[in-house]
Amino acid sequence: METLTRTKVKALLKEEPGKEVLAKGWVRTKRGNKNVAFIALNDGSTINNIQIVVDVANFGDEILKKITTGACIGVSGMLVASMGSGQAVEIQAKEITVYGEADPNTYPLQKKGHSLEYLRSIAHLRPRTNTFGAVLRIRHAMAFAIHKYFNEKGFVYLHTPLITASDCEGAGEMFQVTTLDLQNPPRTQDGAIDYSQDFFGKQTSLTVSGQLEGELGAMALGEIYTFGPTFRAENSNTPRHLAEFWMIEPEMAFYDVKDNMDLAEDFIKSLVKYALENCMDDLKFLNDMFDKELIERLESVVGTEFVRLPYTEGIKILEASGEKFEFPVSWGVDLQSEHERYLVEKHFGKPVIMTDYPKDIKAFYMKQNEDGKTVRGMDVLFPKIGEIIGGSERESSLEKLEARINELGMGRETLEWYLDTRRFGSAPHSGFGLGFERLLLFVTGMSNIRDVIPFPRTPKNAEY
Ligand code: 4AD
Ligand code: MG
Repeated sequence: METLTRTKVKALLKEEPGKEVLAKGWVRTKRGNKNVAFIALNDGSTINNIQIVVDVANFGDEILKKITTGACIGVSGMLVASMGSGQAVEIQAKEITVYGEADPNTYPLQKKGHSLEYLRSIAHLRPRTNTFGAVLRIRHAMAFAIHKYFNEKGFVYLHTPLITASDCEGAGEMFQVTTLDLQNPPRTQDGAIDYSQDFFGKQTSLTVSGQLEGELGAMALGEIYTFGPTFRAENSNTPRHLAEFWMIEPEMAFYDVKDNMDLAEDFIKSLVKYALENCMDDLKFLNDMFDKELIERLESVVGTEFVRLPYTEGIKILEASGEKFEFPVSWGVDLQSEHERYLVEKHFGKPVIMTDYPKDIKAFYMKQNEDGKTVRGMDVLFPKIGEIIGGSERESSLEKLEARINELGMGRETLEWYLDTRRFGSAPHSGFGLGFERLLLFVTGMSNIRDVIPFPRTPKNAEY
C-alpha cells in the first residue's frame, strides 16, 4: 500500500479501469453478506462515493468489524469496471488499513437522514454529511469565483481592519473589544469608563463593515474590494441573520449609482453562472433533496434583466397590492423582507434593484438627492432571500457630509480621517456589500443561514 500515492475519489471516478490505486476516506455505508462486502467511501472531494468490494475470505471478520459507518480507512486494490449500476468503476480491495474506528453505538451520523436542526447541534460532525459536503464545496467555489471576478476586472483586494473605532452603519450594533477588567474598570473623574487605559487607548469594537476604509482605498487605487468577516450584535433571530457573517464590499472611484447597479447585477449573475458551470454535482443533489426548483431558479436569474425600481414606486405597488402584511406599509418605512419578497416573487417575478430610499432609513454616507428627502442607495432584492446586496453612491461633498454627520449627532472625532477623502481630491464614487451567506442561501437553496456557514454565530450560540 505504501508504494502507491493516494488518489482522490473525484479523480478515481474519472479514471480508466485496470490499474492499482489507493483511496483514503470515511465510510458512509457498508453492506453485503458473509462472502462479500460493499463499502461506500467518501473523502470530501466530491458528493459521490467510490465503491470498495471486499472479498470477505481474504480479510477475515476482525478487520471488517471495525469498518463501520464513520470509520476512516485506506484501501488499495485494482480499479475495475463496476458490475453494479450507479458507478462506472469500483475498487477490488487488496489491502485495508483502518485509521480510526467509529463506534456504531455512539457515532451520531448513522445511515438514516437526519434533520437539519439535529445536524446544527452537531455542527462539528455535519461536514461529513452529503448535504454539508455539498454546501461547503459550493461555499469554497463561490469564494474562489469572487476573487477571480474582481481580479479579472483589475480590482485590488484590500484588507480592511476587523477591530475599529468607527460604526460604519451607525446602527449601534457593535461588539466591543476590550482588555479592561470588567469587574473593576478604570474610571475617569466623572465616573465614566476610562478607555484611555484600554488596550488601544480608546473604545474599540469589531467592524460591521469594511466600507469606510474601503473608500480610502478606492480614492487611491481606483477600484478595490474587501472580503472578510463582519460582526453585528443585532438581536435578530431569523433564518437570514448571523452575528458573524462574511461580506464582499467593492468600492469604485468614478462610479455613479447606475454604474454601481450594473456592476452588482453583473457580479451576482457571474457568480451564479460559475456555480452552474462548476458545481453541478452538488447542485443536483441539493435540488433533489431540498428544493426542486433550485437549478431552474439559478438559471432564470442568470438569464433575466433585474428590475430597477425607485423606493417611492415600490411603496405605491405595495400599498395597492391588497396584501395583508405583518408590518404595514407607508412612505418612509424601512422595508421588511415580507415586502421585499412580495415585490420580487409575486409582483415582478424577478430580482429587483430598489433605489432612492428616504434618507432617514439609510446610513449617513449615502449621496443625497436634489429633493432633500431621498438618497442614492440601492438594494438588490432576491427571490426567497429579500435583501442580498446593500449599497449606494457615496456623498462626495464635504459640506453635505459634515452637515449630515452633525444632523445625526455622530461622533466627529472618530471620522476625521474619513472626511479627509472629501477634503483632498474627492471624487464621485460608489460601492456595495454582498452578504456572502445570503448569496449562499440563494445558490444552495438552503432555507436557514445557519446551514451555509460551518460554525454559525447567533444570539445565545457560539459553540466551537
Ligand atoms: O446593507 P448593509 O448593512 O450594508 C453595509 O454594510 C454597507 N456598508 C455595504 C457597502 O455599501 N459597502 O449590509 C450589506 C449586506 C446585506 O445586504 C446583507 O446581504 C448582508 O450584508 N447582511 C447580513 N448577512 C447576514 N447576517 C446579517 N446580520 C447581515 N446584515 C447584513
Ligand atoms: Mg442593508
